Amino acid sequence: MNKFNPIGVFDSGYGGLTILTELQHKMPDYDFLYLGDNARAPYGPRSFDVVYEFTLEAVQYLFNQGCELVILACNTASAKALRTIQQKDLPHLFPSKRVLGVIRPSTEAIGELSQTNHVGILATEGTVKSESYVIEISKFSPNTIVSQHACPIWVPLIENNKHFTEAGKMFIKEDVESLLQKDEQIDTIILACTHYPILKDYIQSIVPKNVTIVAQGAIIADKLEDYLVRHSEIESKCSKNGSTRYLTTENELIFNQNASRLLNKNIISEHIKLL
Ligand code: DGL
Repeated sequence: MNKFNPIGVFDSGYGGLTILTELQHKMPDYDFLYLGDNARAPYGPRSFDVVYEFTLEAVQYLFNQGCELVILACNTASAKALRTIQQKDLPHLFPSKRVLGVIRPSTEAIGELSQTNHVGILATEGTVKSESYVIEISKFSPNTIVSQHACPIWVPLIENNKHFTEAGKMFIKEDVESLLQKDEQIDTIILACTHYPILKDYIQSIVPKNVTIVAQGAIIADKLEDYLVRHSEIESKCSKNGSTRYLTTENELIFNQNASRLLNKNIISEHIKLL
């Protein structure tokens, strides 16, 4: 039997599928193991402690399945749990394994995207309150002015497939307008929640023509490829059969239905229980 040491991709729910798709596209030979904690999504309104606890459980699960590297394809988990896991847990639990997030690679790329140097961030409440984007962007692009707006209703809308109803679209439009009202020079909006690229075309259709909507997936895929080139000790342990398995903490039939619709292909998942 081929060895299966996939790259783990974790999200609170369906959002990380937008990152996974780009990873599969950029790195078709690698194996991936996707885990959505759909039963406990959304993470956005949860406290630091709870997001950290849930994320650590997921990371441990993925490591125990043979992953050498796990991507937290969730901004909220990256903002609230990544640093503690990297600094406190990995050194004694799994010293040779690695966990990477999505915020730093995205903020490294942001400076090159805006012409006006005025950038807007749409994210969950947890990511906005953590100020992670503001702090990280100030390191890489100190002249960039950052405005943030939290969209607490968007993840529940997407998880429940209500985002393209008339009411759903109205909520989304109001949030986008609230962000643009904070700074009329914004020319670049970062979708800083991995669920939001599902709404990208709609958002692009309701903003002024000079505003570009940026999803993180392609940026993360480029950065991961680069990381693997620089870290051959991890890369050499990743199996390459070009396959993906999907795990969910929700009912697998519900996951299959929603994930298949979002990805426009047939997804078969397995139900798992985290601690
Ligand atoms: N996809 C997660 C993110 O990127 C959504 C968080 C949630 O579950 O609220 O932040």
